[in-house]
Amino acid sequence: METVHTILETRKIIKAWKKDGLTVGLVPTMGFLHEGHESLVKKAAAENDKVVVSIFVNPIQFGPNEDLEAYPRDLDKDKLVCEKANADLIFNPSPEEMYFDNAVTSVAVKELTEGLCGSKRPVHFQGVCTVVSKLFNIVTPDRAYFGEKDAQQLAVIKRMVQDLNFDIDIVGCPIVREEDGLAKSSRNTYLSRDERKAAVILNESLNLAKEALKSGEQYASKLTGIISKKISSEPLAKIDYIEIVDSLELKPVCKISSSILVAIAIYIGNTRLIDNFTWDIK
Ligand code: PAF
Repeated sequence: METVHTILETRKIIKAWKKDGLTVGLVPTMGFLHEGHESLVKKAAAENDKVVVSIFVNPIQFGPNEDLEAYPRDLDKDKLVCEKANADLIFNPSPEEMYFDNAVTSVAVKELTEGLCGSKRPVHFQGVCTVVSKLFNIVTPDRAYFGEKDAQQLAVIKRMVQDLNFDIDIVGCPIVREEDGLAKSSRNTYLSRDERKAAVILNESLNLAKEALKSGEQYASKLTGIISKKISSEPLAKIDYIEIVDSLELKPVCKISSSILVAIAIYIGNTRLIDNFTWDIK
């Protein structure tokens, strides 16, 4: 496995692979890789001849008061994770390599980015869509792999690929959880011991909503009530949002009659964590 830092080197390697008729899977990441990322790389390795993992903490998807500087980084450990999961190439550019000083172009997906995390993080999805488009143009993968934990990101990228005619299959991969149910996230490292214990409340509250759906609950307001009550029972937790939306357009639903996404963002202390599940009406 090789690690390269420039677009030129990346393109050279990929050109040679394509000349040999090999397929390429891309796993875009911001590094500090955990078992969730590992599962994406493994899936990409099973479905493609070659796998590229991009590791780039993308400055333009962070708002002014967000955690760009604090975002955890460990390239040496990431290399081990990628190697173990059978990646072939790490693309690890600097911000200067990725962005021209005088760039005036960005990619914005409307509507789907207005609610959920988009309403709380106004610059986020434009930053994500711009960097993912650039990565798609640099790596030209056959398939790209994204985690379902960032459910809105996955829906937005699928829509962007459709709208802009990228010839790339977008593959969503299931959330990987800790033993106690907390969804794996690079941001879990921000949690103190007490906060880490408290953070199980996210998954526990979603499980209660799932139980209610299984028992035939049809009203979104009832589900948000169940989740909200559970979250409020944890003193270290503060609700950022609890949303029930249709899973394609991400528009709020009142009565559940199609596939829905139940998505939450919760502060545990100062750390904002997200989690979700989708529910299909059979
Ligand atoms: O999900 C992430 O880690 C990032 O948003 C992504 C897709 C790598 C773009 O920077």
